[in-house]
Amino acid sequence: MDLKELNQIRETALAEASGAADAAALEAVRIKYLGRNGLLPEVMAQLKEVPNEKKPAFGKGANQLKQELGALIKERQGELASGTKKGEAFDSSLPGQWPALGSEHPISKVTARITEIFQTLGFTVADGPDVETVWNNFDALNTPADHPSRDEQDTFYLENGDLLRCHTSPVQVRYMEAHKPPVRIIAPGRCYRRDTPDATHSANFHQVEGLYVAENVSMADLKGTLSYFAKQFLGEDVKIRFRPHFFPFTEPSFEVDFFFEVGGKSRWIEILGAGMVDPEVFKKVGYDPDKVTGFAFGMGIERLAMIMYGIKDIRMLYENDVRFLSQF
Ligand code: PHE
Repeated sequence: MDLKELNQIRETALAEASGAADAAALEAVRIKYLGRNGLLPEVMAQLKEVPNEKKPAFGKGANQLKQELGALIKERQGELASGTKKGEAFDSSLPGQWPALGSEHPISKVTARITEIFQTLGFTVADGPDVETVWNNFDALNTPADHPSRDEQDTFYLENGDLLRCHTSPVQVRYMEAHKPPVRIIAPGRCYRRDTPDATHSANFHQVEGLYVAENVSMADLKGTLSYFAKQFLGEDVKIRFRPHFFPFTEPSFEVDFFFEVGGKSRWIEILGAGMVDPEVFKKVGYDPDKVTGFAFGMGIERLAMIMYGIKDIRMLYENDVRFLSQF
């Protein structure tokens, strides 16, 4: 036997090992070559017949084959057990896997649109925490201690005496306490009330607050700003009307309705609360009510989203059902 023959054995042995279709066939190959009475021990036995000068090369080749074949058989055993072939687990012809993209939540969409419109009027976005002090949420907003909204039945109080804000109006207080007039802000955010959840109530919801304070800000500015907003938001045909109302922190106060088409029919729909900032609020935040005037407004986002998208139950906005959310 010479090196050439050894090479032939090597080629067939490796081909048989890589071609083995299952574990049994592979084991047969192993026994055929590496088994006690296999071909390789036989080759080794013939070593003594190889001429001396060729012995080292032949012996080396035989040993290499033994190791190579052993390693290949081991690898094939693994492949056959796992069902994937080494180097072939990646099929470049398969279409790529795209990460599932979420969709923008209707609340976020409506909030973004409102924000965008007021930004074109020079309003900047302000922010405040969900956990507020009683001062910011009520006292500074001129809301007397016996006001029904301060009742534990309506507001979530924390053990330390703070509360979960029941509207975004405390951002007005925070902002005015930290900035000199003029101020022109909107403040979108989450609010909390102790409402029993049903189709139109949720214990947490969202508002966008607006505040404009400067010298000589008037009711006309409030009306102009809100009607500009209404037209941008709902189209040129929208009409708005102010109904007298009461809020402790504005005087006079209004509820503002928009007249627009919903489900093929135009009707008046209450959209927001608004008014001229009460001089008492200016005093509490350190502004001089003889020097500045201002208007404020606050609107509920859920209601707007429900009207715009025809959502019948507010709870759908919080269930995070992708079949629902992916429609927006
Ligand atoms: N904070 C009021 C509410 O939650 C809305 C409002 C804001 C009214 C600003 C007037 C001025 O109902």
